[in-house]
Amino acid sequence: MSGIAFRSAREIFFGSGVRARLGALAAAMGSRALIVCGRRSLEASGALDELRTLLEAAGVGVSIFAEVEAEPSLETVERGRAALRQDQCDVVVAAGGGSALDVGKAIAGLGDDPEPVTLASEACRPGRPCIALPTTSGTGAEVTPNSVLTDTATGGKASIRGHALLPEYALVDPELTLSCPPDQTAWSGLDALTQAIEAYTSVGANAISTPLAEEAARRIAGSLRDAFADGSDLRAREEMALGSLMAGLALASARLGLVHGLAHPLGSLYHLPHGQVCGALLPWVMEFNTPAAREQYARLMQAIGICGNTGDLLDWISGLVGDLGAAVDFAQAGLNRDDFARIIPPTLASGSTKHNPRPVDEPALRALLERLIA
Ligand SMILES: [Fe+2]
Repeated sequence: MSGIAFRSAREIFFGSGVRARLGALAAAMGSRALIVCGRRSLEASGALDELRTLLEAAGVGVSIFAEVEAEPSLETVERGRAALRQDQCDVVVAAGGGSALDVGKAIAGLGDDPEPVTLASEACRPGRPCIALPTTSGTGAEVTPNSVLTDTATGGKASIRGHALLPEYALVDPELTLSCPPDQTAWSGLDALTQAIEAYTSVGANAISTPLAEEAARRIAGSLRDAFADGSDLRAREEMALGSLMAGLALASARLGLVHGLAHPLGSLYHLPHGQVCGALLPWVMEFNTPAAREQYARLMQAIGICGNTGDLLDWISGLVGDLGAAVDFAQAGLNRDDFARIIPPTLASGSTKHNPRPVDEPALRALLERLIA
């Protein structure tokens, strides 16, 4: 048996209402917190006010950095680090979707690093503590040791990694996802499903990650349509939140695969939401991977409750993507042969691609891209 590395937030609290723990947890780590969030949605849902009140009621002063954009940049992390230092915050509270959590983790993990943040940064030395509260069920970023950031100067998008990016606490409260709009619910849910399946079939899959990935896929497959159709369905939201959390735990150990290797360059070139790209690519990549992953797909179908052969599984996923309004016409989105030279090298260099169950070389990748625009 090859070795296993398992990574997670130091403590995870899951369940409706667990956000009430925020004040006491933050107060035990310092006297001032920097809330890191997106520009609008946390405030619009009322969650920003609620989190601020929870912190202040526990005697924790609050600064707010509400500047996280989609596809967050290195500059945003730098501005957040400056705010952290200027306001002398002891702890970061990262609240929002994957982008807000990734930026919050980077601000905390690299908060005391004197070097500028680059896509090659490694968060190895201890940073400041971070409490992560996801408001979407998608990336599982509340338990993963990486932050996906974009270098606006080069257009490059990559994951910085490191132990210091792991949050001290993950507070996964499904009630915080009730206000997530349908398109975001679909995209983030497809990201979570892709992450569960890629962690399940990854060459890094192991005895700890595999049961988590399988259970994640089962819960997400059984609840994503319901959460999309009725955002106030708390049972579906709870299933999705638990599924995405389990997928995050699985991928932090097993890593991912070719969908995620391709999703970064395609997403940044054509400005497509990460989860939508993942969902749209998933059936194509699974078809490519079938010779290497047939047994895992059969077990996955049993877990999800799909009868038939691998083709039925791929049809089910394509149907789900279509029903969620997340299908992508890649040619219409801008994908063309002239761009292949900008897509193939970063995809082949990606750590996710290196964990794909079927080895990927340049001709295979080119053939797959050709099929996407055929
Ligand atoms: Fe993802």
